Amino acid sequence: MASLTDRIASFFGGEDSTTDEGLRDLFISELKEVYYAEKHSINALNNQADAGTTNEVRTAFLQHRDESQVQIERLEEIFRIIGVKTEEIKSDAIDGLINDAKRVIANTEAGSLTRDAGLIIAVQKIEHFEIASYGSLLTLANVLDFGQSAELLALTLAEEKEADRKLTILAESFVNKRSKVEEDEHPGSHHASRHPAHSPDADVTLGGTLGI
Ligand SMILES: [Fe+2]
Repeated sequence: MASLTDRIASFFGGEDSTTDEGLRDLFISELKEVYYAEKHSINALNNQADAGTTNEVRTAFLQHRDESQVQIERLEEIFRIIGVKTEEIKSDAIDGLINDAKRVIANTEAGSLTRDAGLIIAVQKIEHFEIASYGSLLTLANVLDFGQSAELLALTLAEEKEADRKLTILAESFVNKRSKVEEDEHPGSHHASRHPAHSPDADVTLGGTLGI
């Protein structure tokens, strides 16, 4: 049996068929898992939009639901391209994140801004899971020379990052609006740390969702 060093060398030289097969299997199982995640997050986004307080938050969630529908079609296209049956693999991680979002709804008052802030945090956690999944799938697609799949995955990854960026901006506007209201009601009570520490142009969220 070849040493690990030899195997790594032949892998990077593109000569390791065992590793290639392993990575192809990994690609397929990750693909099925993110397919499950997207399908379940569509239902969750509907519920989250229903539970949201402000139009801005509801609209952001519904827009991302529509985007997710296109992302699901892209995944189905990838299954077709690589000749694998379209299937879901249950993801405990996404189920847990969706349950956390349900708990936010249960633990906050309907019609409150706190609920919207909590929902943004919960939805961004789901986004970050998807960003990690699509980023890994894109890396695997590139290693495996799945050019067409890589193109489709890159489109979705860019959309996920953009959705995350929009939610960060929304969260920041909440915090700023709230701190303005508090400043107007109680002059001098303004707290500098309520201002987000990062710019809205950031690629992905830096630090906590609400920048606090
Ligand atoms: Fe998505």
